Amino acid sequence: MDAEGLVYVEQGKLRHLFKEKLINVGLPEIQADKTADLLIFADARGIHSHGSVRMQYYAERIVKKGYNLQPKLKFTQQGPSSGTYFGDNAIGHYVAFEAMEEAIALAQSSGIGMVGVQEMGHSGAIGYFVEHAAQQGMVALTVCQSDPMVVPFGGTEPYFGTNPIAFASPRASGNPILFDMATTVQAWGKILDARSKQKNIPDTWAVDAQGEPTTDPFEVAALLPVAGPKGYGLMMMVDILAGSLLGLPFGKHVTSMYEDLSQYRRLGQFHIVINPAYFGDEAQFLRQVSDMVDELHDIEPAKAFDQVYYPGEIQEEVKKNYAESGIPVARSIYDYLISDISY
Ligand code: NAI
Repeated sequence: MDAEGLVYVEQGKLRHLFKEKLINVGLPEIQADKTADLLIFADARGIHSHGSVRMQYYAERIVKKGYNLQPKLKFTQQGPSSGTYFGDNAIGHYVAFEAMEEAIALAQSSGIGMVGVQEMGHSGAIGYFVEHAAQQGMVALTVCQSDPMVVPFGGTEPYFGTNPIAFASPRASGNPILFDMATTVQAWGKILDARSKQKNIPDTWAVDAQGEPTTDPFEVAALLPVAGPKGYGLMMMVDILAGSLLGLPFGKHVTSMYEDLSQYRRLGQFHIVINPAYFGDEAQFLRQVSDMVDELHDIEPAKAFDQVYYPGEIQEEVKKNYAESGIPVARSIYDYLISDISY
């Protein structure tokens, strides 16, 4: 443990702790395995908002039957390149992964795979799904719904979720490009962090109950979209693709993550997978993406920067560092993971 109260845990051990805890509280093994993978994907890259900090929440929802633990998952191919994947309100990490496998298969056979995921729980750091597709040579995009906590541009009441967007592309050499973002300036977790440290926040992150920008984390009533009307437009796009298009609750009707942990969330996600071989010379495409990265790296960094990174590169560096140091986990969370406490 270090001075900040962090325990550094080897990746394989942490994955094992996640999986065991999920199984112990009642999640079937196959679902626990995939969920543990996703939590490790996040924590190992420094995306700590979607790693071990969520474990107690997932465990509580499992115990309170806020997930369907015996789901009847069903893929229905609706067209040559499209289909819907019914998640039956199982844990989202597992459902969205299985649906991505269907989208990849469609793209392999027809050039494009579009799969709408209907009725699932929270699916975590969604870059995981597109990275998986890119590792199989596919370009992929995924978007998903999240609970309403963001004011529309110019409004005073929360309407959309932090509706994330993730995109990945393979390249001739090196890891895939992985762009993965919430459509808000900052995640809700950052407000909670500021509250716990009694620190002010920049006035660009969130608004108070009157819709006015606030620097007081205790006054925060809703988050702000990234880049004003542009982020607002993006979160609306996400909600249309991952919600309305699939016949699911939309906007402010999307269920809350924390309100009633015994209720199914009925969330949606939308995967788009593109097979580069159907759009031109695949080898040339892969080379061009690699050349693009090289050219970006060659750009002289601005004063406050050490270099130009491609999306996902900083997370890869964190992953390398954690492979040496172990993954930092808050002592309280580590104690929980090794305990018999269910949540
Ligand atoms: P972030 O702001 O840390 O990063 C966003 C993107 O910018 C990443 O692709 C990152 O690689 C890139 N980036 C950051 N700094 C960079 C730099 N200096 N140069 C080049 N690229 C750079 O991510 P954010 O928005 O905080 O999201 C964190 C996670 O939360 C994501 O995994 C997202 O999927 C997840 N999320 C999940 C939700 C859900 O309901 N399932 C809701 C909201 C977010």
